[in-house]
Amino acid sequence: MQPKAIIFDLDGVLTDTSEYHYQAWKKLADDEGIPFTREENDTHLRGVGRRESLAYIIRGRHYSEDQIQEMMDRKNKYYNEKVKQMTPKELVAGGRELLTEIRKAGIKTAIASVSKNCQMVLDLLQITDLFDGIADGNCVMNSKPAPDIFVYAAGLVHVHTIDCLGVEDANAGIEAIKTAGMQALGIGPKERFQRADKVLATMENVHLQDLLIQK
Ligand code: BG6
Ligand code: MG
Repeated sequence: MQPKAIIFDLDGVLTDTSEYHYQAWKKLADDEGIPFTREENDTHLRGVGRRESLAYIIRGRHYSEDQIQEMMDRKNKYYNEKVKQMTPKELVAGGRELLTEIRKAGIKTAIASVSKNCQMVLDLLQITDLFDGIADGNCVMNSKPAPDIFVYAAGLVHVHTIDCLGVEDANAGIEAIKTAGMQALGIGPKERFQRADKVLATMENVHLQDLLIQK
């Protein structure tokens, strides 16, 4: 079934910023002497908001709200040091062509990212103008796996959630998409996702037809 809108997560789908998020959290955890592994990042932090991510890392330890704020700011500073160097070359291969193909087919494009850095990354990749709607971390309170960000993005492009396809690299994101009542496409290893309708190993050089879920 052809969707009327395709709603993309940003980090880890259209660009590899998920690696920069991991490296920034790892640096913060090292500063604090807290053990934190790449596997934990993949299972517990991928796609999850800033505060929720920190809550996982510091679980069981006591920190004041001021200390929590300072740590979130410090992680964001580390993340920004990496991200500000980004150029359009870091858009996934074939990304611009794919978004153009989707719009030519009369399908709306939108972003659903809980990152507060989303707009900056889109601008650095020079793809802001390829989206009909952009929902980011400033639009909703509840992070994925809550469906809010995908529902908000569907509203921006005036398409019912049932007519949307969501694209995600995180299991928390796939949960958000399914709870929103959308079709869900996972990007990454099959074992990562529980409820995806379809999984692609990579977004590199894919076409509209590859994204569609055959029903
Ligand atoms: C998501 C990332 O897109 O945004 C997460 O996958 C990140 O790793 C979250 O924690 C929040 O991002 P930010 O930029 O607001 O700290
Ligand atoms: Mg992601």
